[in-house]
Amino acid sequence: MSLNNTSTQYGSVAKFFHWLIFVFVLLQFFIGYFMEDISTNKILVGVIVNFHKLLGLTILALMVLRAVWAWKNPKPSLLNVSHWQRWAEHTVHGLLYLLLIAMPLSGWIGSVAGGRPPRYGTMPLNLPIEKNKELAGSAFDVHGSLAIIILVVVSIHLLAALYHHFIKKDDILRRML
Ligand code: HEM
Ligand code: HEM
Repeated sequence: MSLNNTSTQYGSVAKFFHWLIFVFVLLQFFIGYFMEDISTNKILVGVIVNFHKLLGLTILALMVLRAVWAWKNPKPSLLNVSHWQRWAEHTVHGLLYLLLIAMPLSGWIGSVAGGRPPRYGTMPLNLPIEKNKELAGSAFDVHGSLAIIILVVVSIHLLAALYHHFIKKDDILRRML
C-alpha cells in the first residue's frame, strides 16, 4: 500500500491520521464529559484535566499536519454518486477539519485566559493572551457548543459511511480501512 493517496485510494498516511485522530477524539469526549466527576481527589482530577488538555493539543498538531498532507495529496474521487452527494462529502469533510481545529483552540484559549494553561511537566504551554475571566467563560461556552456540533457532524459522516457500505455496497468504507 502506498503512503500517498491516489485518485481512487487513500494512502496509509491518510488512514493512519484518520483512525488515530478518531481514537483520540473519542477518548477526549469521555474525558471531557466525565473528568470532573471521576474522583473526589482534587489532585487526581487536576492530572486528568491536564491530560485532556495535552491530548487536545496533540490532536490540534495532528490535524494541522493532516490538513497539509490532504492539501498535498489528491483526494480520492467518488464514483457513481450524484452532484449533491459530492457536494455533501466536501462540505462534511471540510467541516470536520475546521471543527477539529477550532475545538482544541477554544479549549486552549479558555484555559490560558482562565489562568490554568496546559502543563507539559512543569512547563506551562501559554498563548499570548492576558488572564480574562469573561474570555475564558466565552471560550468554554464555544468549547461546549462545538462538542455538540462535532457529535452531530460525525454522526452524519458515520451514517454516510454505513449507507455506502451496507446499502450501496460500494468500496467507500473499505478504502479508508
Ligand atoms: C479535539 C480536542 C478536544 C475535544 C474533543 C474536547 C472535548 C471536550 C468535551 C466534550 C468537554 C465537556 C464539555 C461540556 O461539559 O460541555 C470538554 C471540556 C473541557 N475541555 Fe476539552 N476537548 C478538546 C481539547 C481541549 C484542549 C486543547 C483544552 C485545553 C488546552 C481543553 C480543555 C477543556 C476544559 C478545561 C474543559 C472543562 C470546561 C468546563 O469546565 O466548562 N479541551 N472538552
Ligand atoms: C472523530 C471522528 C471522525 C473524523 C474527525 C473523521 C474525519 C474524516 C475526514 C476529514 C475525512 C476525509 C478524508 C481525509 O481528509 O482524511 C474522512 C473520510 C472518511 N471517513 Fe471519517 N472521520 C471520523 C470518523 C469516522 C468513522 C467512525 C467512520 C466509519 C466507521 C469513518 C469513515 C470514513 C470513510 C469511509 C472516509 C472516506 C470517505 C471517502 O472515500 O471519501 N470516519 N473522515
